[in-house]
Amino acid sequence: MPKQAVARTATIKREAMKGHWIAAARFALAGLGGAQAQDYPTRTVTVIVPFAAGGPADVMGRIASDILSRHLGQSFVVENVAGAGGTVGATRAARANPDGYTLLAGHMGTNALAPIFYPNLGYDPEKDFEPVNLTAVQPELLAVRKDIPANNLKEFAAWAKANESKLNMGHAGIGSVSYIGCLLLNSAIGIKPTLVPFTGTAPVMNAILAGNVDYDCDPVLGPLQHVRKGTVKALAIAAKKRSPLLPDVPTSYEQGFPQFDCAPFYAIFAPKGTPQAIVDKLAKALSEGLDEPAVQKRLTDLGAQIAEPDERGPKALAALVHSEIARLTPILKAASAK
Ligand code: MLT
Repeated sequence: MPKQAVARTATIKREAMKGHWIAAARFALAGLGGAQAQDYPTRTVTVIVPFAAGGPADVMGRIASDILSRHLGQSFVVENVAGAGGTVGATRAARANPDGYTLLAGHMGTNALAPIFYPNLGYDPEKDFEPVNLTAVQPELLAVRKDIPANNLKEFAAWAKANESKLNMGHAGIGSVSYIGCLLLNSAIGIKPTLVPFTGTAPVMNAILAGNVDYDCDPVLGPLQHVRKGTVKALAIAAKKRSPLLPDVPTSYEQGFPQFDCAPFYAIFAPKGTPQAIVDKLAKALSEGLDEPAVQKRLTDLGAQIAEPDERGPKALAALVHSEIARLTPILKAASAK
């Protein structure tokens, strides 16, 4: 056999062996689950937040990490790994050692809908993660520059169409929930703005405040403080019900744009193969923390909705991921094609 072919065959064999070793290690870890889970965690746990600090994903990830630190007596430390609509951080988490020491604070974009936008995504949201526990759901909001001459969705639609050639939409990367929310809005209105990507909602908000982008669709907590200060205008809640935090902001349904309906989930995931006993221990700790009155107040003050205990755990979260993929894939494909 020619030398190159011999080398190639050896490489293929080595890669195949590597695959077997990883599978074997995952199998062994799963078997060790019970014993490991008793002591777990014995050292610091990394929680990857796949967006920049200061946005909804970061805040949700930090609230979950804080609960886990308090309930499990070890530090759960957030690491922001932003890029490509959260898929850089999610890929890193999917490939991490499945030993419970690397987790992902993901959301509806990274852990359900990303494959719609990234055909060569390095992970499968359903096959490469163990769903741990839902943290909260956050309805989205249309936030616009305060000097845009529009005070409701109809006025915004008219203004956006008239100014389409210079219209800039901020978002946290293709496949992020800000991208997804505005995709629904844009297709409902019939506009194609220039899409300006950032590493998260916090930098998007800075760009709106600076007048560099015109609008953004994001979970309520992203623009909330700016809306309250009057430095950003809130034109619509992307849901059937108004937000108790902004009761004067009408919903997209009230304003005749029901297609703008987006309420992303935020949740903790572990790499596939993480021992079930560890997943269960994490889920129990997180769920108990979510029942604490102080945590409930903190989340509701941020516009987040907390699910009932039986709608939060590994099985319920797996079902939610599955049903959101089934529900939203055709809607988003149709909106992207417009
Ligand atoms: C998103 O658009 O996916 C998130 O809002 C980004 C973030 O939380 O910073």
